[in-house]
Amino acid sequence: MKVGIDKLHFATSHLYVDMAELATARQEEPDKYLIGIGQSRMAVIPPSQDTVTLAANAAAPMLTAADIEAIDLLIVGTESGIDNSKASAIYVARLLGLNRRVRTIEMKEACYAATAGLQLAQDHVRAHPDKKALVIGSDIARYGLNTPGEPTQGGGAVAMLVSADPQVLALGTESCVLSEDVMDFWRPLYHTTALVDGKYSSNIYIDYFQDVFKGYLQKTGMQPEDLAALVFHLPYTKMGLKALRSALPLVDDAQQASWLAHFEHARQLNRQVGNLYTGSLYLSLLSQLLTDDKLKAGDRLGLFSYGSGAEGEFFTGELQPDYQAGLDVGLPQRLARRQRVSVSEYEKLFNGQLAWRADDQTIDVADDPHRFVLTGQQDEQRQYLDREA
Ligand code: CAA
Repeated sequence: MKVGIDKLHFATSHLYVDMAELATARQEEPDKYLIGIGQSRMAVIPPSQDTVTLAANAAAPMLTAADIEAIDLLIVGTESGIDNSKASAIYVARLLGLNRRVRTIEMKEACYAATAGLQLAQDHVRAHPDKKALVIGSDIARYGLNTPGEPTQGGGAVAMLVSADPQVLALGTESCVLSEDVMDFWRPLYHTTALVDGKYSSNIYIDYFQDVFKGYLQKTGMQPEDLAALVFHLPYTKMGLKALRSALPLVDDAQQASWLAHFEHARQLNRQVGNLYTGSLYLSLLSQLLTDDKLKAGDRLGLFSYGSGAEGEFFTGELQPDYQAGLDVGLPQRLARRQRVSVSEYEKLFNGQLAWRADDQTIDVADDPHRFVLTGQQDEQRQYLDREA
């Protein structure tokens, strides 16, 4: 039985900052951000969007009434949680109108958690093929203004419907995982921005990729040439390029050229959004499938998931005959239509998020065009609005 990703959709904000403009404001050469980091635009997430609203905005447009009826598992992977106890998935289930008989949980292991969710969802659907699972990676990447990590911020959510006989990608049952206690990136409970040893984290990422990629090939007997393309977690798009380059010595010149050409498609949309932590690998998959017309049904893709702290996994999936039907086909146009904000407007929005305080707060949602928005906090409870309710 084939099980995997049946539908794949994405949501971010309607605002972005231009990376050349940000570089100039930070007294850096624009090419450092555009080429050295590999980012052209960065999503600016306004105070009216959080993990919950981004997740609901990603999933709602792709779900039919039949999907909602069949979903009995919802997993939200995030490291931008809004509560230390209650799962963001509970709010998301309510906003999406899911069945009351649904298991709703939030998972955490930095940028890796959505992959853990996807693998659990796969096992769940194999055991219950008439059911569907919804897995969402939703995050806002925040390092702070004027920090080295700033050009690798961003945010958004990727929603994946997992089912039997999937339209998009049939997942393999084998994978190779590695997890160890590494202090490359973390965020203590009293911090709203990440702590990171940037260079160290980038080196660990490559080490993990090498380990689980080679481990996967050894475990399965698969050859690198069996993989039409490699898709990576993209904290910034140059990171994926560095990892890909580390794998090139394993294949001949023609395969190298082919992987490099496919990678340009895999990073096209991430280049416009920035990091979205848990969802980054899956936005890259979406970018690959939406923009790369050299791929065809039956092609096997290799996927590398990485979460600092650290956990990595390499797994593969087979492209299905009607894969375009399950994709968020309007995404490239939506990204192109976003509104550009100046660096000072971005800084104001960055500092304007709901404060971690007990008092009532109101957020102006008038300029936010999305269906689900965060309107503030009352009696220490977040207030969400569904504009279609
Ligand atoms: N033209 C072209 N390239 C230029 C340039 C110019 N004018 N000026 C500089 N560059 C290049 C540099 O040569 C460098 O390239 P290489 O990495 O290929 O050597 C690149 O631009 C970046 O320059 P620096 O190394 O000087 O940049 P930095 O020290 O200011 O910070 C960073 C870079 C470490 C990635 C930092 O942005 C950061 O800490 N980001 C957050 C951490 C991160 O994303 N880590 C990734 C792995 S962890 C992970 O994957 C989990 C996750 O999501 C966080």
